[in-house]
Amino acid sequence: MTSTGTAPRRADHPAADPGPVPVRIRHSKGGGALGFFQTTGDVSAFTAASLFQPDTRVDVVVRFSATVGFRGSREAWRDLRGFAVKFLTDDGEYDLVGNNSPVFFLRDEATFASLVVAHKMYRDGTVFDYDRLWDFWTTHPETAHQVAWLLSDRGIPRSWRHQDGFGSHTYQWVNAAGERFWVKYHLRTDQGIAYLTDEQADAIADTEVDHQRADLRAAIDRGENPSWTVSVQVMPYEDARTDAFNAFDLTKVWPRAEYPLIEVGTLVLDRNPDDELAEIEQAAFAPSSFVPGIGPSPDPMLLSRIDAYWRFHQHRVKEEYARRAAVPFAPVDAGWDEDLARRARSWDPDDDFRQAGDLVRRVLDDAGRERLRATVVSQLAEIVDPAIRERALLFWDRIDVAEGAEIRSQVQAVR
Ligand code: HEM
Repeated sequence: MTSTGTAPRRADHPAADPGPVPVRIRHSKGGGALGFFQTTGDVSAFTAASLFQPDTRVDVVVRFSATVGFRGSREAWRDLRGFAVKFLTDDGEYDLVGNNSPVFFLRDEATFASLVVAHKMYRDGTVFDYDRLWDFWTTHPETAHQVAWLLSDRGIPRSWRHQDGFGSHTYQWVNAAGERFWVKYHLRTDQGIAYLTDEQADAIADTEVDHQRADLRAAIDRGENPSWTVSVQVMPYEDARTDAFNAFDLTKVWPRAEYPLIEVGTLVLDRNPDDELAEIEQAAFAPSSFVPGIGPSPDPMLLSRIDAYWRFHQHRVKEEYARRAAVPFAPVDAGWDEDLARRARSWDPDDDFRQAGDLVRRVLDDAGRERLRATVVSQLAEIVDPAIRERALLFWDRIDVAEGAEIRSQVQAVR
């Protein structure tokens, strides 16, 4: 079954009178564009989803966002970025609501609310509260991988065009014969990865609030339509039972050597919204919006998100969302057994620092490591409570002994 991209664009069906749409309670600051997804590979052996069949093109709506940033915050600030894609398929809307990071701070949904509080607190309303932030991170060591990622160059992409996107969670694909696979989505930027240094970002933040939104709009206006190569890592269903690692742990990546990237298609943004409110801000992205051939995994964070978003949308975009009630809110035939569900919650606390260490030692070059160190040192120097600062130093010792020692001596020198 192929889709020809005939699904209506959202702009063709604006609500009669959208009225005031409350801002998102999370990821409230963002912007986006419209375009298409075109398959270039053949993954029909793994999924029957119509949008991923050969020679298929469907329209998309993409919204990029700041995760911590609030409505008026500066887009140049260091933050994780949301990367949400709505595929308008013949079978309904399929939403891939991911970030620009392959992992996340947490894997247990019970701790999510505390993470949000720790990330959003400001001392006396103006100065960012590094005590609270590092107190949270160091008492939740599963954050180590995401913290190292965020404080590296990756935490300030030069623009939305110059960053990758990820589904982050493990999802499920089902082929025409009913065989199931686990997949992770990778959207690699064709513009090349590029970052801002802290100094460059600060200079932009001093004068510009929305530089990423402006950059995207200007690029598309110039005809430089940004694109991403969409690939997946595919894991045979039974591997999740036997692999040495937990395939559903949102704080970890899968080894590329064992699960190489398989190309699926290309995502192109070629149209700026005429009406940002109707086409982007009113778009309701929901991890529960699956289409046949795609489903959830037992990752507890994902299951919690599947349950959460559409409830917020009913509040935020009400009637518009109700009009599209064909969206399946409940997971389509989840398909896993008790054993896999149990495994999804079996985390190895001794393994929390390994991939963070790999990132620092193997992925970053010397200059990148130096910039990461400077960012860490500047944040630790801001911490008021010596006990929290000491815990933060021990946290870095566990990520990498040599890096930890260097950070310790530099923090001591500036305190
Ligand atoms: C249990 C954990 C989480 C909860 C409860 C949660 C909840 C929410 C809520 C309530 C919104 C606002 C929805 C709206 O008003 O449209 C939101 C937005 C968003 N979340 Fe999450 N979130 C969680 C974790 C994550 C993770 C792990 C990711 C990425 C991998 C993520 C990516 C996003 C994105 C990209 C948006 C903005 C989508 C858009 O542009 O409309 N969230 N989240």
